[in-house]
Amino acid sequence: MSADLLIVNIKDLVQTEDIIREKISGREMSELKTINNAFLFIRNGIIEEFGPMSTLEKGTLPFTSNFVKRLDAHGKLVFPSFCDSHTHLVYAGSREGEFADKIRGLTYEEIARRGGGILNSAAMLHLTSEDELYRQSMMRVKEIISSGTGAVEIKSGYGLNTEDEIKMLRVIRRIRESSPLEVKATFLGAHAVPREYSRNRDKYVGLIINEMIPMVASEDLADYIDVFCDRGFFSPEDTERILMAGLKYGLRAKLHANELDFSGGIQAGVKYNALSVDHLECTGDAEIEALLGSDTMPTLLPGSAFFLGLKEPPARKMITAGLPVALASDYNPGSSPSGNMKLVMSLGCIRLKMLPEEVINAVTINSAFAMGLSETHGSIARGKAANLFLTKEVPSYAYLPYAFGSDLIDTVILKGEIINI
Ligand code: NIG
Ligand code: FE
Repeated sequence: MSADLLIVNIKDLVQTEDIIREKISGREMSELKTINNAFLFIRNGIIEEFGPMSTLEKGTLPFTSNFVKRLDAHGKLVFPSFCDSHTHLVYAGSREGEFADKIRGLTYEEIARRGGGILNSAAMLHLTSEDELYRQSMMRVKEIISSGTGAVEIKSGYGLNTEDEIKMLRVIRRIRESSPLEVKATFLGAHAVPREYSRNRDKYVGLIINEMIPMVASEDLADYIDVFCDRGFFSPEDTERILMAGLKYGLRAKLHANELDFSGGIQAGVKYNALSVDHLECTGDAEIEALLGSDTMPTLLPGSAFFLGLKEPPARKMITAGLPVALASDYNPGSSPSGNMKLVMSLGCIRLKMLPEEVINAVTINSAFAMGLSETHGSIARGKAANLFLTKEVPSYAYLPYAFGSDLIDTVILKGEIINI
């Protein structure tokens, strides 16, 4: 059990809540509650109390005894840890060769058609043992912890056959058991059609439905199910069949949708009450209409749009229409080889024209919602997990997305423990 910890003299305690909200939508996204010159008290890994230093200085609070460990945060801000609700950080090797192909002018889809892309990662993963895959993935886990992430969703999807998909999901389970991160697992058998099924996609969809999903469920290896519903990958009809099969096992959807085309993926996700639909570069009025009034979190992945040079999703239009927006990294070897959520915030501001307050809401409460964690993560609130970080000395919270290349994370605390980064 972790020791009690009292953090004092916090210059600004960011994203505080007295009443826990499950998500933040529309105009409210530009509001962010902070407490100036604050303290925060952690007991048993949980946030127990916080407030202005003046209330602490009265000396009436029960935890001010000398036995409690103190941390002085003079000049520093405290943020709730980032929640990264969309990653593929379990993968083998890397694909910087395709990076060079892209620079020479090939598109993501052209590379995929040549057997590069997801199929290339699947071939490398097939040749990699479970232990080695875990070892490589844990390096990325350590990297994202040191850059401020405290909860992460990780997808399978580089297996594309039953055995290798299960191998990936077991590695994700091992990460959940061995790292201080909060981890959610998503089964993404429908990430790409393997070459041997290229003329018979239906047969591969059948394999997912009849073999993979029951196996994944029998070992309780996934929290969610995902389909890459887009041009050249899986159709809305395939997606609906797969989601229906997943629902029988209690797997709620989180979809890849509308990255490459107006694919119908957003509408399919809303129809099946998906927890989130992600990417959304191709979003128009009909898609926004479908999302309004739904319980589905629109999640934008500006790292992959930036890396692939895609047009940007209409974040401003979505927020103006009253939608919530979450941001995630999409950490993966093909379209976003970075899990840096601070950079994601910067891209949200610079490319998507979101305000600093909006991006902070998008990488905390709203991305916690997009992975089913907004009751326990995503803000500084009494009773929530003590997952947070101290910044280096910075003038304001807006300085984090503004100073896009600087490492400004000073101390990481997960489940109440200070992590060696
Ligand atoms: O989210 N869009 C589909 N899947 C990943 C890319 C995976 C890859 O290229 O390896 C994504 O961008
Ligand atoms: Fe993705």
